[in-house]
Amino acid sequence: MTEHLTHVKHPLVQHKLTLMRRKETSTAGFRQLLREISQLLAYEVTRNLPMTTERIETPMQMMDAPVLDGKKLVLVSILRAGNGLMDGILELIPSARVGFVGLYRDEETLQPVQYYFKVPQSLEDRMVIAVDPMLATGNSSVAAIDLLKKAGATNIRFLCLLAAPEGIARMKEAHPDVPIVTAAVDDCLNEQGYIVPGLGDAGDRMFGTK
Ligand code: URA
Repeated sequence: MTEHLTHVKHPLVQHKLTLMRRKETSTAGFRQLLREISQLLAYEVTRNLPMTTERIETPMQMMDAPVLDGKKLVLVSILRAGNGLMDGILELIPSARVGFVGLYRDEETLQPVQYYFKVPQSLEDRMVIAVDPMLATGNSSVAAIDLLKKAGATNIRFLCLLAAPEGIARMKEAHPDVPIVTAAVDDCLNEQGYIVPGLGDAGDRMFGTK
């Protein structure tokens, strides 16, 4: 992946995202749409996975057939909203290894505070895809990537649903080597650090909390 930012404009992604943004969309509907959209975004973020071939026999003849190469990739959910994106991707890539980074946002300073970190072994040999639906200020995304690099990851991608220009700029400055894949780039952040027009609090909407 050479681009720092990939905006996935596929009609199915855009349509599903619009349904997710609508404030009357139910918790169950939001969760289902997130699962569906995560698989379409996963298709994009894994586009350049290394491939090799394997000798197989079809009912007709032998052939050298393409298969994924290298160690299993790692999905890292940035808690808690990342879990909604991760569930769908795991259906598509069931052998992926899974890590969790727990960060909450201090509502006054908007700075991330770490409360959990657990990732698989040998991060340095694997593609690592960090997932969080909302790239807002970029503070927690940058902090999560800092932690993953400290744990040895060298090949990291960041997958989100919505990105604010402020978050994209912050990530580009701190981690220019980490490509971002997103379904939309919204207008800006409001004073509380929420993306506008956005979709509200992604965690609250997928878990039915407030
Ligand atoms: N986190 C969210 O869930 N929503 C936003 O708009 C920004 C951060």
